[in-house]
Amino acid sequence: MIKQFIVDVDSGLSQPQKQLPSKYFYDKKGDELFVKIMSLEEYYLTRSEMEIFNEQIGSIIDSFKLNKATYFELIELGAGDGSKTRKLLKALTDEGYQYDYMPIDISQNALDKLEESLANDLPAVSVKPQHGDYFTILESLKNSHHPKVLLFLGSNLGNMPDNTASEFIYNLGRNLCCDDKILIGLDMIKSADIVLPAYNDQQGVTREFNLNLLHRINTELGANFDLELFEHIPEYTEHEGIAKSYLKSLCNQEVTINATGKVYSFSMGEKIHTEISRKYNDSIFDHILSPTDLVITAKFTDSKQYFADYVLTRVRAEPDK
Ligand code: AVJ
Repeated sequence: MIKQFIVDVDSGLSQPQKQLPSKYFYDKKGDELFVKIMSLEEYYLTRSEMEIFNEQIGSIIDSFKLNKATYFELIELGAGDGSKTRKLLKALTDEGYQYDYMPIDISQNALDKLEESLANDLPAVSVKPQHGDYFTILESLKNSHHPKVLLFLGSNLGNMPDNTASEFIYNLGRNLCCDDKILIGLDMIKSADIVLPAYNDQQGVTREFNLNLLHRINTELGANFDLELFEHIPEYTEHEGIAKSYLKSLCNQEVTINATGKVYSFSMGEKIHTEISRKYNDSIFDHILSPTDLVITAKFTDSKQYFADYVLTRVRAEPDK
């Protein structure tokens, strides 16, 4: 794990356009900061998706086309904090569906916390945490042949470039059977006056979240980034529909990373690209789905049309090998 971190940091900082992968935001501190971000006034994403779950949970469940008498598996990619999922679990249980809830996460800590709080709040729900990476777990669940519903909420897909997103969804589909479902939450393209503040909040939580990546490199890889000498820069145009975050060097400076044994130079104004948060519309998402075996069979939006939860259905059978 740490080896990969070293390789990724070194290669990212050795390119002409320096970059660092956004997946490294999420250490313990980063997890905490993201929880704070979700409740920020400016961060409309969580609130919008919550509204969809609050207002339309019955229709969402109907769109899964499940049989109440048939056991199924509800699998969530990323344990999250579970507030939206809780709504779904409660409704499924109240309506008498037979299922196990299987949150998949690489953080055992996140799974433990979720399991404990669900045992308190929804003791009737059978929770089977799956510790590991998404595809290893999905591969192992593939043999069960029970109907499956996958949850991938919160516009987490948005951190991937479109071609990677296609490949990712294609691979999810490969681990599903015909008629299985994916419920995927995506942030919609909208004007910069709404999107930009979500990535540049007044309190500076997002700034701290972005800078935490350098702090993490300092502590885990023995580097000497001066966090005062980098500035959080968010960018977004409605035309492109992609929010981008950067860390801009405020002067000419050199940083040493012990784990790579190298010195990296930053010129004044040079930017390290740290994250993309893609926003979508139907045609962009159709294009992403086109090489996959999944089709859109339902779509739910909030009253402002800021966010959408799409239900995808696996259509083709796995080709004979
Ligand atoms: C968790 C990937 C959906 O891109 O909006 C929040 C992460 N980054 N603020 C997003 C994030 C900055 C978030 N996702």
